[in-house]
Amino acid sequence: MLRDRFGRSIEYLRLSVTDRCDLRCTYCIPTGFRGFEEPEHWLRFDEIERLVGAFARLGTRRVRLTGGEPLLRRNVSALAGRLAAIDGIDDLSMSTNATQLGRHAQALRQAGVGRINVSLDTLDRACMQSITGRDSYRQIMDGIMAGKDAGFEPIKINMVAMRGVNDGEIEQMAAFCIANGFVLRLIEVMPMGDTGRNTAYLDLGPVRARLTERFDLVPQAAELGGGPARYLATRDGRSSIGFITPMSQHFCATCNRVRLAVDGTLYLCLGQEEKFEFRPLLRGGASDAELEAAIRAAIELKPHQHDFTARPEKIVRFMAQTGG
Ligand code: GTP
Ligand code: 5AD
Ligand code: SF4
Repeated sequence: MLRDRFGRSIEYLRLSVTDRCDLRCTYCIPTGFRGFEEPEHWLRFDEIERLVGAFARLGTRRVRLTGGEPLLRRNVSALAGRLAAIDGIDDLSMSTNATQLGRHAQALRQAGVGRINVSLDTLDRACMQSITGRDSYRQIMDGIMAGKDAGFEPIKINMVAMRGVNDGEIEQMAAFCIANGFVLRLIEVMPMGDTGRNTAYLDLGPVRARLTERFDLVPQAAELGGGPARYLATRDGRSSIGFITPMSQHFCATCNRVRLAVDGTLYLCLGQEEKFEFRPLLRGGASDAELEAAIRAAIELKPHQHDFTARPEKIVRFMAQTGG
């Protein structure tokens, strides 16, 4: 069991398998899509598998594949299969933009990915194009439906709510998710560096009150994944809506996760700089015991909380580097 200095149990590893993306969301700056060639500094599958194995021996049970866009990593389903087979990993999931999900959904499911979360900020084609910088509406919607057909349960829809951008269609998105059996999660935008585009912050407190009334929502009892979202459910218990409020009501006291970037850097917090480099150990012949000791030492560095709210201008690193 991994415990940090503040008594939090660390059991969730977010694993970024690429920093590239085929979209350009306004609140995120990915490195762009430069094809499938893999730089030497990216961890290889055997290195990732070995490191995740060490985390699992120390009590990590959840792994989420992220990016950039994880489906742009060549053979990512094969990696998923290798991770799903690791003793102790009982929750393997992926966060994706769904542009490539149509092609990959079945293979991912068969490889042992149980849950997927999809970024979908709008149902309006023009609005989507202005947020993502691409016209991928058809691909994304087909990808989501392919995910549903492949049996991912539940599919969560991540909607980053932005004032004057998509805040007028929150009710419509909620209705769409309820009708399709998806779990909507509304997310407050985090200031991850100035992208130069409109990502105006929206406090989700009032939105939550509005949706509670409109959809007759009640507190949700069951656990829905291992993340920071707080959920409400419809009265019949069939649908849930989650709220991820890093700015208005942060959840750092119960943080259970760390993030591994594609180059083997472990980031201890999304909104702080503390990090630990695993690539030199993996490539320098470290033993399993040395890897485990290094993981324990890294967890000691985990800070108490992010300081987005205290220093909103702070540029940390873009989301695509650490996978959100
Ligand atoms: P579940 O296991 O399904 O609950 O996944 P998740 O919600 O943790 O993962 P997802 O990749 O879908 O992330 C949704 C949003 O939550 C993204 O905007 C993330 O950046 C944000 N998020 C996830 N973990 C943290 C965290 O530890 N701190 C902060 N500030 N935001 C987080
Ligand atoms: N603030 C909040 N959420 C973000 N995401 C990416 N960048 C940001 C940001 N600056 C979300 C995406 C994706 C998830 C993994 O992270 O919507 O669904
Ligand atoms: Fe790509 Fe996700 Fe960043 Fe959008 S938020 S540009 S889909 S990595």
